[in-house]
Amino acid sequence: MARARAEALTTQGRLADLRSRYAEAVTDAEAASAAKQHAKGKKTARERIEGLLDPGSFVEIDEFVRHRTTAFGMDAKRPYGDAVIIGTGTIHGRNVAVYSQNFTVFGGSLGEVAGEKIIKIMDLAIKTGVPCIGILDSGGARIQEGVVALGKYGEIFKRNTAASGVIPQISIIMGPAAGGAVYSPALTDFVIMVDKTSHMFVTGPDVIKTVTGEEVGFEELGGALAHNRTSGVSHYLASDEDDALDYARALLSYLPDNNLAELPRYDAEPQLEVTDSDRVLNRLVPDSPNQPYDVTTVIEHIVDDGEFLEVQPLFAPNIVIGFARVEGNPVGIIANQPNAMAGTLNIEAGEKAARFVRFCDSFSIPILTLVDVPGYLPGTDQEWSGVIRRGAKLLYAYAEATVPLVTVILRKAYGGAYIVMGSKQLGADLNFAWPTAEIAVMGGQGAVNILFRGEIKKAEEDGEDVAEVRTRLANEYTYNVASPFLAAERGELDSVIEPAATRVMITKALRTLRTKRASMPPKKHGNIPL
Ligand code: HXC
Repeated sequence: MARARAEALTTQGRLADLRSRYAEAVTDAEAASAAKQHAKGKKTARERIEGLLDPGSFVEIDEFVRHRTTAFGMDAKRPYGDAVIIGTGTIHGRNVAVYSQNFTVFGGSLGEVAGEKIIKIMDLAIKTGVPCIGILDSGGARIQEGVVALGKYGEIFKRNTAASGVIPQISIIMGPAAGGAVYSPALTDFVIMVDKTSHMFVTGPDVIKTVTGEEVGFEELGGALAHNRTSGVSHYLASDEDDALDYARALLSYLPDNNLAELPRYDAEPQLEVTDSDRVLNRLVPDSPNQPYDVTTVIEHIVDDGEFLEVQPLFAPNIVIGFARVEGNPVGIIANQPNAMAGTLNIEAGEKAARFVRFCDSFSIPILTLVDVPGYLPGTDQEWSGVIRRGAKLLYAYAEATVPLVTVILRKAYGGAYIVMGSKQLGADLNFAWPTAEIAVMGGQGAVNILFRGEIKKAEEDGEDVAEVRTRLANEYTYNVASPFLAAERGELDSVIEPAATRVMITKALRTLRTKRASMPPKKHGNIPL
């Protein structure tokens, strides 16, 4: 016995001890995890990290951490690493921090030490100013650890909030995220879910059935489709785990390391001549104001290489948000989509765009707004669901944004929707319109009904073709009152431009605004209508 201890205390003995413990903590544990996860068609927590980061860049820490719980016979099973793997690495050569929950250990549940590991990596990310990416696959708070587990969630939420607007935070859901545990991803900037294999809910199907009698399955309640299309909790519906990791990598290519860091820039050939591709835009807007078109065509013609990374494409498709580059520099784009609900603004669209504006503003990403909006969606449903309170978020977000703001009105810009969509009055720096723009309190038909009630009545009495009179008056109104040149005359637009010149104008506008400095009055924080 004494001899064995002496051997163990030699350098070689200690190295052997390290190797054996490392094998137990990482190599053997990984083999056991792989067997379980692969059988379910899923990757292990470490494989997911490997897929996310640049090859070979992952440096794991806390692989020797073990829980110290004795309740429920837990002391008989104390695997190294516990239920989460943490560490650092690079994506596109830039440092990031990452944690990945290991469902094969206590169902990925979060007890004291798993919580401490996540807290440690978040603190490191905040301290070093790098993005923090969480890969979630967990049964939630570790039931055996009770209040201690709940407390760790509280500490994580506190850090998610402290990190908000300081470092980008991305959550990739690759299994269950149940109960209050969903609120950590909810506090992060982007939530990515994997089709069919990820689920998020505050109360599961069983509890719902007991309390309300409602019967609903996991997938319908909290699957990736439900959260991408219906609730708006998720920002991307990945077809599989690889797709989810690729999207996270693509997203990070547009984001700075932190709120004080430079944006990631790529070399791009300056192209300040109008090209054939630009001229396509001169033929895009249909003559009939009621005919839709796809605004993503406009986006693709004005950004580098036509590359647009759309965010939340399935939720509120009447507004399009996402990232692109102009001259190699990241921009956030917000555009009404005439192809969906004629591009009207509703509560969902307002909230989707508001959060995006605030994200871009937090991280100094210039915002380009493309406007074609007939107004707010009318109806009791909208009014009673709080379109006043919730619609105000987008106004607030634009009005407090201090990043470069460039707005192009493509076609309709009516009423309050004109003001909210990056108008000059809310603080946009450079505002342009296409000659097809119509800017007014309301559209021609609506205005005629109010302004020319008398004329229309008289036409009816005189037996004239009322529809023809109405159209003539509406056209006159549109030409005389809604013309973009009226706004340009007053300097509320900086210029009216050919659609084909849009890309070049935006490029020059963003160059001009690169050195913009603006600030809001000092305050603790504002009180955005929530
Ligand atoms: C401890 C857990 C666990 C948990 C799962 N396990 N969840 N252990 N605490 N929360 C364990 C299981 O006992 C099992 O252990 C292993 O993980 C795998 O779980 P299975 O049930 O066999 O897996 P599966 O059939 O895929 O079901 C996954 C699941 C289910 C849907 C997540 O395990 C489940 O419903 N778990 C409880 C979910 C939950 O209600 N959590 C609390 C949420 S409230 P063995 O040893 O058998 O392999 C919450 C509060 C946060 O999180 C508060 C923040 C303020």
